[in-house]
Amino acid sequence: MIKIAFFDAKNYDKEVFNKHNKDYNYEITYFESKLNSETAHLTKGFDVVCIFVNDKADAETLKILEENGVKVLALRCAGFNNVDVENRGKLKVVRVPQYSPYAVAEHAVGLLLCINRKLYKSYQRTRKYNFSLDGLLGFDIHGKTVGVIGTGRIGKAFINIMKGFGTNIIAYDMYKDENFQKEAGFEYVDLDTLYKNADIISLHCPLTKETERMINKDSISKMKDGVMIINCSRGKLINTDDLVEKLSEGKIGGVGLDVYEDEEEFFLRDMSNSYVRDKNLSILLSMPNVFITSHQAFFTREALNKIASDTLENIKEEFETGTCANEL
Ligand code: NAI
Repeated sequence: MIKIAFFDAKNYDKEVFNKHNKDYNYEITYFESKLNSETAHLTKGFDVVCIFVNDKADAETLKILEENGVKVLALRCAGFNNVDVENRGKLKVVRVPQYSPYAVAEHAVGLLLCINRKLYKSYQRTRKYNFSLDGLLGFDIHGKTVGVIGTGRIGKAFINIMKGFGTNIIAYDMYKDENFQKEAGFEYVDLDTLYKNADIISLHCPLTKETERMINKDSISKMKDGVMIINCSRGKLINTDDLVEKLSEGKIGGVGLDVYEDEEEFFLRDMSNSYVRDKNLSILLSMPNVFITSHQAFFTREALNKIASDTLENIKEEFETGTCANEL
């Protein structure tokens, strides 16, 4: 029987993976801890290690996995920036490239609406019987220019929704999809043009060497005053020191983050009773025009089910055929 060590396991993971595992009968051991070089020793005797976005499969960890006899590293997510792919050795690394682009795109729109119309403030107020509108002024999204960075599956879903709002879309991607461009009706531009013209900027590209900290002092300086920045991709796309600085100068109108540069220690965990704090995160949380969710964009019923079924199927394919369509 194939044995799976499942890291960073939450109750909702266990529920959905146990349900889908009835079709596979793997032996799954759930670990609450994240995978890293310190916890990698737990993988001894397992065939597969299953990880999520904040587990760290660096070269040292991968080496331990290989020494422990692990054959497959199964990512139950799309992004793989947390895996040192160059140093995977003989380990097969599989992922779930697509589970629900709609889940993430819809969440990005949710963040945008929430910041623009200050819904989080309204909620706090009306609960206290404060029905005043002072400080809640937003703007019509209709007619605004939206800059989308990354027009892959999620970027496309986001563009389709934003078209429905009556916005003018401009986009940047290293690899243009001209068929989709014609079909959806938007313009590909270079990054500087996007920064200069967009009222709202949403990040949907992967974290790579080229995109790491692409949103920084310089790029923000090129943006419109009052720009809204949405990041549902990866925290390290933004230089947080620079973001905080530019927010403090009043340059940025609003920020919606589902991911954060140093989220590993905090996101997806209840830290409310802990004294551990992150300075930038605390500053951002205290800003009136910043709204943060905890890497929740993927978190829909449909996405969770697809993640579980595809992860288990990837493992089956690897063990039955020695390869898999979703292998890196
Ligand atoms: P995808 O692979 O379908 O699309 C990524 C797009 O980015 C591609 O069109 C690619 O050409 C483009 N790209 C690559 N390098 C670029 C660069 N330097 N500049 C501009 N564009 C570039 O990926 P998908 O499914 O759309 O996901 C995008 C990202 O969203 C993932 O890499 C992941 O980091 C993030 N994500 C976040 C989730 C969350 O819960 N917050 C859940 C799922 C994904």
